[in-house]
Amino acid sequence: MAEKDRIVCVTGAGGFVASWLIKLLLSQGYTVHGTLRNPGDEKYAHLRKLDNAAEKLKLFKADLLDFDSILAAVKGCVGVFHVACPVPQSSVPNPEVELVQPALDGTFNVLKACSEAKIGRVVVVSSVSAVFMIPDWPKDRVMDESCWSDKEYCRKTNNWYCYSKTVAEAEAFEYAKKSGLNVITVCPALVLGPMLQHTANASSLALIKLLKESYDEIENNLRKIVDVRDVAEALILVYEKPEAKGRYICMGHLIKNAELVDMLKILYPNYEFPRSIKEEGKDQVKMSSEKLQKLGWKYRPLKETIVDSVESYKGLGILWS
Ligand SMILES: NC(=O)c1ccc[n+]([C@@H]2O[C@H](COP(=O)([O-])OP(=O)(O)OC[C@H]3O[C@@H](n4cnc5c(N)ncnc54)[C@H](OP(=O)(O)O)[C@@H]3O)[C@@H](O)[C@H]2O)c1
Repeated sequence: MAEKDRIVCVTGAGGFVASWLIKLLLSQGYTVHGTLRNPGDEKYAHLRKLDNAAEKLKLFKADLLDFDSILAAVKGCVGVFHVACPVPQSSVPNPEVELVQPALDGTFNVLKACSEAKIGRVVVVSSVSAVFMIPDWPKDRVMDESCWSDKEYCRKTNNWYCYSKTVAEAEAFEYAKKSGLNVITVCPALVLGPMLQHTANASSLALIKLLKESYDEIENNLRKIVDVRDVAEALILVYEKPEAKGRYICMGHLIKNAELVDMLKILYPNYEFPRSIKEEGKDQVKMSSEKLQKLGWKYRPLKETIVDSVESYKGLGILWS
């Protein structure tokens, strides 16, 4: 690939997934335009310390709801990774404004800016939240990319994050159909792994809480997990492979909470684990990343993800040793 073809934009550069994506892009010789809401904020200091960042990472101040700021960041790029999206750590008081609007209008702004800047390919980060919220799905049927979360069901059950990801991803494909823009989506499962940023994001907190909250009881749900480094690889893979098309579920492991807690207890016996696990959890949905694997994607063992996650939380002082 020629040098001029290796200029890409990553939205929400300071986040958990985007930071790893940028690290990998820089290590592969890409020049990256990263968007941040407040480039001066100390919480983004890790980005400037990445290898090759001094020469190849250019940071732009941009908000998803400000079209001109997004356009300025994508101009001159050949590809765009749209990663930014609010990922709440708990329920939010005004989900339409805090979640749906930035996800939906933000995605629209990014895609419109990409059309204007004649971007060759856009990779949109969606989520398995846009896949699995289907009521009464048979337990033994494996979900794939043909599954879309039921929007009304998400609203009715107050799953606003799932709703926001579903409508934003659907909007991305709708926009692609109308405009001819080359759009691919990737739907990661719960993303774990070492953090590059210094404050815990929502998915890392899920694991941190399992280690230190000493919950009275949790449900034995079937967790869908993927390593953040494998997500970054997947995003670059679908960007680079000409034959990539449509959406891709990105999940490495299916594991019941009880098994995950057992694994953690063996590795780290001294933390404050849940005291009891209710046998049948509500979420037993199975899904597969076969489509992504057929494109050449590989994922690392869960134990490596867990150990590297916990060691990174300890290193950052978020967990005690
Ligand atoms: N982590 C997971 O388990 C998981 C699973 C599936 C899919 N995903 C998807 O992966 C992507 C990244 O998630 P993450 O886990 O890396 O979350 P994260 O660490 O919270 O990062 C989200 C980023 O989005 C940015 N953002 C939010 N609202 C914005 C707005 N209005 N304008 C500009 N930027 C905005 C945030 O910027 P600030 O730094 O300014 O707050 C932050 O950098 C999201 O699209 C998420 O839905 C994540």
